[in-house]
Amino acid sequence: MNLLIMGPPGAGKGTQAEVLVKELNITHISTGDMFRNAIKEGTEMGKKAKEYMDKGALVPDEVVIGMVGERLSQPDAKAGFLLDGFPRTVEQARALDATLDSLAIKLDGVVNIVVPLEKLMARLTGRRVCKGCGASYHVIFNPPQTEGKCNSCQGELYQRTDDNEESVGTRLRAYEEKTQPLIDYYKEKGLLLDINGDQEIKLVLEDIISALKKPVK
Ligand code: AP5
Ligand code: MG
Ligand code: ZN
Repeated sequence: MNLLIMGPPGAGKGTQAEVLVKELNITHISTGDMFRNAIKEGTEMGKKAKEYMDKGALVPDEVVIGMVGERLSQPDAKAGFLLDGFPRTVEQARALDATLDSLAIKLDGVVNIVVPLEKLMARLTGRRVCKGCGASYHVIFNPPQTEGKCNSCQGELYQRTDDNEESVGTRLRAYEEKTQPLIDYYKEKGLLLDINGDQEIKLVLEDIISALKKPVK
């Protein structure tokens, strides 16, 4: 199965993706995680991306498009993938269509997690992420069993540099201006699956799984 997961910052894309890819046995491709790894490794692309990410701005299309095109042509994507955080602009969506066409891959659905924007600030400022495996926690909504430690790999939890009020504000504006138009883009293609993301984490997962079982309209 070849899927996209979209929604505003803090909607729960990463949280749901972590479980979904295991259930469906497909590859999780998160552009945010790819950039964070590049930053950790100190690559040129990482240095460039960090300037945009810390402010909450989108990394330029040409950088992201090239990176994803390369990633999708790797063997593990052949068995199916869940793209998280890409595309985020109409230009990226068009480039993705072209890449998928050239690889003879068809998208099966676009999971769109819907959460009222006013709920997102608290989710993001309270988020803690595992240094080891990237799992997302929340100090109130999804606390780890042991404070500061990941449940699955015991890794140390940290706060992302863009999870502060100022960067979150910029990220939300970027979402509204640049990414929201993609909802119509995929609705017109008959691929959109709207999911209520404003409920318990496990209920969101159940809704996604049952939506994927229904044929898309
Ligand atoms: P990225 O890493 O993709 O960040 P984002 O889109 O801002 O999304 P988040 O990862 O913040 O949110 P999420 O939906 O994954 O939420 P999560 O599950 O963690 O991108 C970061 C940056 O990289 C961008 O700003 C940009 O600079 C750059 N970038 C990446 N892709 C790009 C692209 N294509 N083009 C250009 N630039 C790009 O959950 C959030 C919190 O809420 C957690 O604490 C979690 O525990 C909690 N939570 C989750 N679900 C629930 C629930 N149901 N109820 C209560 N709490 C919940
Ligand atoms: Mg994420
Ligand atoms: Zn971990």
